[in-house]
Amino acid sequence: MAIFVSGTGTNMENIARRVQSGDLDCEIALVVCDNRAAYALERARRFGLKCIVIEREDFKNKAEFDRVITEKLREQRVDGILLAGFMRILGPDFVRSWRWKILNIHPSLLPKYPGVHAIREAFEAKEKDTGVTIHFVDEGVDTGPIILQRKVPIEHGDTLEALEARVHATEYELYPEAIKLFLAGKLVVEKEGVKIVQ
Ligand code: GAR
Repeated sequence: MAIFVSGTGTNMENIARRVQSGDLDCEIALVVCDNRAAYALERARRFGLKCIVIEREDFKNKAEFDRVITEKLREQRVDGILLAGFMRILGPDFVRSWRWKILNIHPSLLPKYPGVHAIREAFEAKEKDTGVTIHFVDEGVDTGPIILQRKVPIEHGDTLEALEARVHATEYELYPEAIKLFLAGKLVVEKEGVKIVQ
Protein backbone atom coordinates (compact mmCIF):
# COMPACT_ATOMS: atom_id res chain seq x y z
CA MET A 1 0.00 0.00 0.00
CA ALA A 2 1.02 3.62 -0.43
CA ILE A 3 0.00 6.32 2.04
CA PHE A 4 -0.46 9.88 0.79
CA VAL A 5 0.01 12.70 3.32
CA SER A 6 0.29 16.48 3.43
CA GLY A 7 0.35 17.44 7.11
CA THR A 8 0.86 16.09 10.59
CA GLY A 9 0.52 12.42 9.69
CA THR A 10 -1.15 10.99 12.78
CA ASN A 11 -3.38 8.70 10.71
CA MET A 12 -0.35 7.52 8.77
CA GLU A 13 1.44 6.78 12.04
CA ASN A 14 -1.58 4.89 13.34
CA ILE A 15 -1.63 2.74 10.21
CA ALA A 16 2.14 2.17 10.43
CA ARG A 17 1.79 1.05 14.07
CA ARG A 18 -0.94 -1.39 13.18
CA VAL A 19 1.11 -2.82 10.33
CA GLN A 20 4.05 -3.17 12.71
CA SER A 21 1.94 -4.97 15.33
CA GLY A 22 0.45 -7.33 12.73
CA ASP A 23 -3.08 -5.94 13.14
CA LEU A 24 -3.05 -4.85 9.48
CA ASP A 25 -1.77 -7.44 7.05
CA CYS A 26 -0.06 -5.31 4.44
CA GLU A 27 3.20 -3.60 3.67
CA ILE A 28 3.59 0.15 3.45
CA ALA A 29 5.64 0.30 0.29
CA LEU A 30 5.75 4.07 -0.02
CA VAL A 31 4.70 7.31 1.63
CA VAL A 32 3.94 10.09 -0.86
CA CYS A 33 4.03 13.60 0.57
CA ASP A 34 3.21 16.76 -1.39
CA ASN A 35 4.69 19.14 1.17
CA ARG A 36 8.35 19.11 2.16
CA ALA A 37 7.58 20.88 5.45
CA ALA A 38 5.05 18.26 6.58
CA TYR A 39 5.63 16.77 10.04
CA ALA A 40 4.38 13.49 8.55
CA LEU A 41 7.84 13.09 6.98
CA GLU A 42 9.50 13.08 10.39
CA ARG A 43 7.03 10.44 11.61
CA ALA A 44 7.58 8.34 8.47
CA ARG A 45 11.35 8.46 9.00
CA ARG A 46 10.90 7.25 12.58
CA PHE A 47 9.04 4.22 11.27
CA GLY A 48 11.65 3.63 8.59
CA LEU A 49 9.08 4.11 5.84
CA LYS A 50 10.22 4.84 2.32
CA CYS A 51 9.09 8.38 1.46
CA ILE A 52 9.02 10.60 -1.55
CA VAL A 53 8.28 14.30 -1.53
CA ILE A 54 6.62 15.42 -4.71
CA GLU A 55 5.41 18.99 -4.85
CA ARG A 56 2.92 20.20 -7.42
CA GLU A 57 4.86 23.46 -7.98
CA ASP A 58 7.74 21.46 -9.46
CA PHE A 59 5.61 20.30 -12.39
CA LYS A 60 4.29 22.23 -15.32
CA ASN A 61 0.81 20.76 -14.99
CA LYS A 62 -1.26 18.49 -12.83
CA ALA A 63 -1.32 15.64 -15.34
CA GLU A 64 2.49 15.51 -15.26
CA PHE A 65 2.49 15.56 -11.43
CA ASP A 66 -0.03 12.69 -11.35
CA ARG A 67 1.91 10.75 -13.99
CA VAL A 68 5.14 10.88 -11.99
CA ILE A 69 3.33 9.71 -8.86
CA THR A 70 1.87 6.74 -10.76
CA GLU A 71 5.35 5.88 -12.04
CA LYS A 72 6.70 5.79 -8.46
CA LEU A 73 3.77 3.69 -7.29
CA ARG A 74 4.28 1.18 -10.12
CA GLU A 75 8.00 0.97 -9.29
CA GLN A 76 7.06 -0.06 -5.75
CA ARG A 77 4.31 -2.41 -7.02
CA VAL A 78 1.65 -0.68 -5.01
CA ASP A 79 -1.81 -2.30 -5.04
CA GLY A 80 -3.77 0.36 -3.19
CA ILE A 81 -3.56 3.95 -1.97
CA LEU A 82 -4.57 5.33 1.43
CA LEU A 83 -5.09 9.08 1.56
CA ALA A 84 -4.41 10.19 5.12
CA GLY A 85 -4.73 13.94 5.36
CA PHE A 86 -3.70 14.40 1.71
CA MET A 87 -5.00 17.87 0.90
CA ARG A 88 -4.80 17.82 -2.88
CA ILE A 89 -7.35 16.76 -5.47
CA LEU A 90 -6.07 13.94 -7.66
CA GLY A 91 -6.65 14.34 -11.40
CA PRO A 92 -9.33 12.36 -13.24
CA ASP A 93 -6.81 10.24 -15.18
CA PHE A 94 -5.06 9.27 -11.97
CA VAL A 95 -8.36 8.39 -10.29
CA ARG A 96 -9.45 6.34 -13.31
CA SER A 97 -6.24 4.35 -13.41
CA TRP A 98 -6.62 3.47 -9.70
CA ARG A 99 -10.40 2.99 -9.82
CA TRP A 100 -11.69 1.74 -6.41
CA LYS A 101 -8.14 1.32 -5.19
CA ILE A 102 -7.89 4.71 -3.45
CA LEU A 103 -9.37 5.14 0.03
CA ASN A 104 -9.79 8.47 1.78
CA ILE A 105 -10.53 9.48 5.34
CA HIS A 106 -12.66 12.55 5.95
CA PRO A 107 -13.62 14.11 9.30
CA SER A 108 -17.37 14.57 8.78
CA LEU A 109 -20.48 12.59 7.98
CA LEU A 110 -20.26 13.02 4.20
CA PRO A 111 -21.99 14.34 2.15
CA LYS A 112 -22.12 16.97 4.90
CA TYR A 113 -19.07 19.23 5.27
CA PRO A 114 -16.74 18.23 2.44
CA GLY A 115 -13.51 20.22 2.06
CA VAL A 116 -10.67 21.15 4.36
CA HIS A 117 -12.34 22.57 7.51
CA ALA A 118 -14.95 19.92 8.12
CA ILE A 119 -14.70 19.63 11.93
CA ARG A 120 -14.78 23.38 12.50
CA GLU A 121 -17.68 23.89 10.11
CA ALA A 122 -19.82 21.23 11.83
CA PHE A 123 -18.91 22.73 15.24
CA GLU A 124 -19.74 26.30 14.18
CA ALA A 125 -23.02 25.17 12.61
CA LYS A 126 -23.95 23.82 16.07
CA GLU A 127 -24.67 20.35 14.74
CA LYS A 128 -25.73 17.71 17.27
CA ASP A 129 -23.21 15.34 15.81
CA THR A 130 -20.52 15.00 13.23
CA GLY A 131 -18.29 12.03 12.50
CA VAL A 132 -15.82 10.25 10.28
CA THR A 133 -16.23 8.83 6.79
CA ILE A 134 -14.01 6.40 4.92
CA HIS A 135 -14.79 6.34 1.22
CA PHE A 136 -13.41 5.35 -2.15
CA VAL A 137 -12.10 8.26 -4.17
CA ASP A 138 -13.86 9.18 -7.39
CA GLU A 139 -13.39 12.21 -9.64
CA GLY A 140 -15.30 14.56 -7.32
CA VAL A 141 -14.24 16.21 -4.05
CA ASP A 142 -15.15 13.96 -1.10
CA THR A 143 -17.94 12.38 -3.16
CA GLY A 144 -16.88 8.76 -3.73
CA PRO A 145 -18.76 5.65 -2.55
CA ILE A 146 -18.87 5.45 1.25
CA ILE A 147 -17.28 2.40 2.90
CA LEU A 148 -17.78 3.13 6.62
CA GLN A 149 -19.13 6.02 8.65
CA ARG A 150 -19.18 6.61 12.39
CA LYS A 151 -20.96 9.33 14.32
CA VAL A 152 -19.22 11.52 16.89
CA PRO A 153 -21.67 13.44 19.11
CA ILE A 154 -21.06 17.14 19.71
CA GLU A 155 -21.63 17.60 23.44
CA HIS A 156 -23.19 20.60 25.10
CA GLY A 157 -20.34 22.91 26.13
CA ASP A 158 -17.85 21.18 23.85
CA THR A 159 -14.79 23.08 22.70
CA LEU A 160 -13.51 22.74 19.14
CA GLU A 161 -10.29 21.22 20.49
CA ALA A 162 -12.15 18.57 22.51
CA LEU A 163 -14.31 17.71 19.50
CA GLU A 164 -11.26 17.47 17.24
CA ALA A 165 -9.62 15.06 19.67
CA ARG A 166 -12.71 12.79 19.68
CA VAL A 167 -13.00 12.89 15.88
CA HIS A 168 -9.34 11.92 15.54
CA ALA A 169 -9.70 9.10 18.08
CA THR A 170 -12.59 7.78 15.97
CA GLU A 171 -10.44 8.06 12.83
CA TYR A 172 -7.76 5.87 14.38
CA GLU A 173 -10.33 3.10 14.85
CA LEU A 174 -12.40 3.46 11.70
CA TYR A 175 -9.66 3.71 9.06
CA PRO A 176 -8.01 0.42 10.06
CA GLU A 177 -11.45 -1.28 9.99
CA ALA A 178 -12.00 -0.11 6.42
CA ILE A 179 -8.44 -1.01 5.39
CA LYS A 180 -8.95 -4.56 6.70
CA LEU A 181 -12.11 -4.93 4.58
CA PHE A 182 -10.25 -3.60 1.54
CA LEU A 183 -7.26 -5.90 2.05
CA ALA A 184 -9.57 -8.90 2.47
CA GLY A 185 -11.28 -8.09 -0.84
CA LYS A 186 -14.61 -7.64 0.92
CA LEU A 187 -15.58 -4.31 -0.63
CA VAL A 188 -17.63 -4.37 -3.81
CA VAL A 189 -18.70 -1.10 -5.39
CA GLU A 190 -22.18 -1.31 -6.85
CA LYS A 191 -24.57 1.29 -8.26
CA GLU A 192 -26.27 1.67 -4.89
CA GLY A 193 -22.99 2.05 -3.01
CA VAL A 194 -20.37 -0.16 -1.37
CA LYS A 195 -21.44 -3.67 -0.47
CA ILE A 196 -19.47 -5.54 2.21
CA VAL A 197 -19.32 -9.20 1.23
CA GLN A 198 -18.41 -12.02 3.65
C1 GAR B 1 -7.61 14.09 9.40
O1 GAR B 1 -8.54 14.55 10.34
C2 GAR B 1 -8.29 13.74 8.10
O2 GAR B 1 -9.57 13.19 8.29
C3 GAR B 1 -8.39 15.11 7.46
O3 GAR B 1 -7.15 15.69 7.73
C4 GAR B 1 -6.67 15.22 8.99
C5 GAR B 1 -5.25 14.76 8.83
O4 GAR B 1 -4.65 14.53 10.07
N1 GAR B 1 -8.65 15.00 6.07
C6 GAR B 1 -9.37 15.91 5.40
O5 GAR B 1 -9.87 16.90 5.90
C7 GAR B 1 -9.56 15.60 3.92
N2 GAR B 1 -10.45 16.52 3.31
P1 GAR B 1 -3.31 13.69 10.17
O6 GAR B 1 -2.34 14.29 9.14
O7 GAR B 1 -2.83 13.90 11.55
O8 GAR B 1 -3.62 12.25 9.86
